[in-house]
Amino acid sequence: MNGSLGAGHSAIYPGSFDPLTRGHLDVIERAAVIFDRVTVAVVVNPQKRESLFTLDEREVMIRRSVEHLANVEVDHFRGLLADFVRHREATVIVKGLRVVSDFENEMSTALMNRSLSGVDTVFLPSDPRWSFVSSSLVKEVYNLGADVTEYVPPAVLAVMLAKRPAHRPNER
Ligand code: PNS
Repeated sequence: MNGSLGAGHSAIYPGSFDPLTRGHLDVIERAAVIFDRVTVAVVVNPQKRESLFTLDEREVMIRRSVEHLANVEVDHFRGLLADFVRHREATVIVKGLRVVSDFENEMSTALMNRSLSGVDTVFLPSDPRWSFVSSSLVKEVYNLGADVTEYVPPAVLAVMLAKRPAHRPNER
């Protein structure tokens, strides 16, 4: 035991990460300080929408972005998060909260996950610098030709630019 807050805990940080944003990375970096081990868990086929990036692309972008964090790994899961948490013998789920309204959904999700797996969720507040940065907004402005350098880690930007190398928004 090193005596830190979450010592002895292995955390799962789940999400779609389509793509990973600077806000996500900030949560991962802070979770890596608190917990012994953090697994970034990319969901396969989220029901809510089509992904812009394939599972492989999302995992590669995250792996490159967390290279500096020795206790962080990247994995993916299908189906219930609660099953994955039990399978990995994780002791805590980590979620970032960007805005107060996130809390409403996340509260019932956390309670359901605890009911299914016995594992609690710890919420980390987003750094205010990134509170307006969501994957869906990043995708929207990127698809419309905006420069997203400020909102995603460099390794993510590289993949995004490779996917859209010659985008000229004002071209007819
Ligand atoms: O980044 P997102 O899209 O907000 O992440 C949502 C995610 C992947 C955390 C959530 O959709 C999830 O946990 N999906 C797995 C399916 C599941 O366990 N559903 C029941 C939740 S109580």
